[in-house]
This record gives sequence, structure tokens and C-alpha cells, in this order.
Amino acid sequence: MAKKIAVLAGDGIGPEIVAEALKVLSYLNTDMNLGLVFENALIGGAAYDAFGTPLPQTTLNLCKNADAVLLGAVGGPKWEPLPHAVRPERGLLGVRSELNLFSNLRPAILYPQLADASTLKPEVVAGLDIMIVRELTGGIYFGQPRGIRLLENGEQQGFNTLVYCESEIRRIAHSAFKTAQKRHNKLCSVDKANVLEVTDLWRKVVSEVGREYPDVQLSHMYVDNAAMQLVRNPKQFDVIVTTNMFGDILSDTAAMLTGSIGMLPSASLDANGKGMYEPIHGSAPDIAGQGIANPLATLLSVAMMLRYTFNETAAAERIEQAVNQALDSGVRTADIYSEGMTQVSTSGMGDAVLNALKG
Ligand code: NAD
Ligand code: IPM
Ligand code: MN
Repeated sequence: MAKKIAVLAGDGIGPEIVAEALKVLSYLNTDMNLGLVFENALIGGAAYDAFGTPLPQTTLNLCKNADAVLLGAVGGPKWEPLPHAVRPERGLLGVRSELNLFSNLRPAILYPQLADASTLKPEVVAGLDIMIVRELTGGIYFGQPRGIRLLENGEQQGFNTLVYCESEIRRIAHSAFKTAQKRHNKLCSVDKANVLEVTDLWRKVVSEVGREYPDVQLSHMYVDNAAMQLVRNPKQFDVIVTTNMFGDILSDTAAMLTGSIGMLPSASLDANGKGMYEPIHGSAPDIAGQGIANPLATLLSVAMMLRYTFNETAAAERIEQAVNQALDSGVRTADIYSEGMTQVSTSGMGDAVLNALKG
């Protein structure tokens, strides 16, 4: 049976990086007879411009009927004046929520060839391999009530609600413990339980779930300390599990340990392994249209798709190996450039990975 991939390129650098991912994946599809079929749809600002909504029903239906979704990025200054309900970002949040993609895996791995590209000292980041498990369909991103209201004293008040029910915490905790079991059996749950009742519950439920995984060493850390520890000594972590917003912030920090946010892929999974795959970075409006964005985070997201949704481990490994070979050959996009290397464009990097695949 054909395996269907919904392709949502989105805005800004989205189409540029997705083109490189498809170039590589299409080659592998033929070479390894993977049986993948692709269908494109609009999301985000591009969908708003065409249909007046960032998530048209046809796009959502395509995602629901597909086995996996490949997304570039959404958003940009052009759409910032719009009301929140129709902002590009809401299109992405809508797919995550409608498809129940509650478990967001964001691996931060330092490719040894990029030790010089990190702003941190090589010895701090050498050998870095951590996994952030971010809760993706709850918390303050989705809590009600939300909005801006007018108070009696005439002043405006903005408000969002940070809520988690036990079942939401339990399922992401299971996902994180299982992830830790496949790695080094260490899980750090990051919260703000010293101040927020909701994460006090988070800590209790994660600890409870932990009793079912006696082989995993569980620790807890406050988010402010975690942000500091990630930069001070990131290799103390194996797997981190945290709430939607803390995970958003900490994963951008973790990205920089790998040299560039252009290196960090992600998988957003439901309970059955169906998923959306996207780089963790955004639409990078400051470099969009210049052909200089790093496509590797998107390419590595495709590898995650092959591994997690399609169980095509060999194909996933081929992409990861080809990325390694491309980096070995000295090609670098601007964000990971260091002295003595060869600077290439977005498509130059895609070609380098493709050529490595072709051998
Ligand atoms: P961003 O991640 O788009 O960019 C931050 C910085 O990193 C920029 O300087 C950018 O040039 C650089 N960068 C990002 N990706 C890169 C790549 N692949 N190669 C080289 N450099 C790269 O974050 P931002 O500027 O805060 O947000 C811009 C827009 O993107 C906003 O509208 C935001 O809402 C949206 N956004 C979307 C997603 C997503 O679609 N998943 C994620 C984050 C931000
Ligand atoms: C991410 C992005 C999104 C988020 C935005 C664009 C909604 O920053 O995927 O990290 O905050 O989840
Ligand atoms: Mn983010």
C-alpha cells in the first residue's frame, strides 16, 4: 500500500528547505523502493493569502488521511498584524492539536565536524546527544480562557491559562520514559513546581509514572536552573521531558549547542506513531529568498519520519550517514560556516547530501 506524505512547505525559508528534503527523499524513494507518495498543500501565511485561513479544511483533511506530514515553517512579519485566530502559527498549532501529536521529540546532537561552529567551548559540547521530549498539545498554548479584556478601570488585560490534566501529563511521561529506555535510561523532568500548582501536579504524576520504569533514573529540575545547566554542562542530560512552552524555549537553547538552529529536527507523534516532521526553527524571514538557509534540520526530520512512522531504519540511517559525509567533505551553509570550510547555498548542501547518498 502506498505510504502517503502530506507536504506543507509553508512560509519564508519553508519552501527552500522542503525542496532540498524532497530532492533527497525522492531519490531514496526510488533507490530503495520505499513506496512513498507525496501531496502538497498550503498552510500558514501562504494558506491565509490564498484562502483567508492558515489551516484550510482541505489541508487538514490531507494531513489526517496521510501517514506522515512534512512541514517547513510558518509565519513572518507580513502576517503579524493579523488577529491571533488567523495567524500562520495557528495553522501549525491546529495540525498538532487536530492530529493529537502530543509527543514532540527534539534531539540535539553535535556532529563532531561542527564543534567549531558552536558558540560554546568544544569540550562543553563534544559528544553531545540529548533528547528533549516536549508536550505539544496542551499547556499554556491551548489553555482557556485566553485573550485580551477591558478591565473596569479602563485598562486592558492580556491573559492565557496554563493547564494540564493528569491524563495529558501521564501520556507524555510514558512517552519520555520509553524514550529514555531506548537511550541511556536517564530522564530529567523540567518544571516550575516551586511556584506553579500545575507543574506541582506535573511533578507528582511524572514521579508516579516513573514507578513503572524502575530501570530509568528520574530527576526533577526547575526550568530556570535547566536553562542554565543546558549551557553550563549540557552533557549531564540524556532525556528531558517538559511542558509545551518550556520545551519550546529549551529546545532553541539546545539547538545552539549543536552549532545552529538549522541543525535540529523534530518528530511530533500521536499514540500510534503517526507524525508530523519539521525542523524546530521558524521561517527565518531575515534570510528568506536568499538561498542560504541550512536544510539539514529538515533533512534530518525526514530521517526521523522514515524511522518513526515508516520503520525504514536503513533508509533513515542512510540519510544520517549522508549528512555526516557531506559535513566531512567540508561544505557548510552560512550558519555553520567556520574558517577553512567551503560555504554553500541551501541547494548546494542538498546536493552534497544527495551526492553522498549516490556514493
Ligand atoms: P526563526 O527560527 O525563524 O529564526 C531565528 C534565527 O535563526 C534567524 O536569525 C534565522 O535566520 C535563523 N535561522 C532559522 N532557521 C535557520 C536555518 N535553517 N538556517 C540558517 N539560519 C536559520 O525564529 P524567529 O525569527 O523568532 O521567527 C520567525 C517566524 O517564524 C515567526 O513568524 C515565528 O512565529 C515563526 N516560527 C515558526 C516555526 C515553525 O513553523 N515551526 C518555528 C519557530 C518560529
Ligand atoms: C516551534 C515554534 C512554534 C511553537 C510556533 C511557530 C507556534 O516556535 O515549533 O518551536 O511555539 O511551538
Ligand atoms: Mn520554537
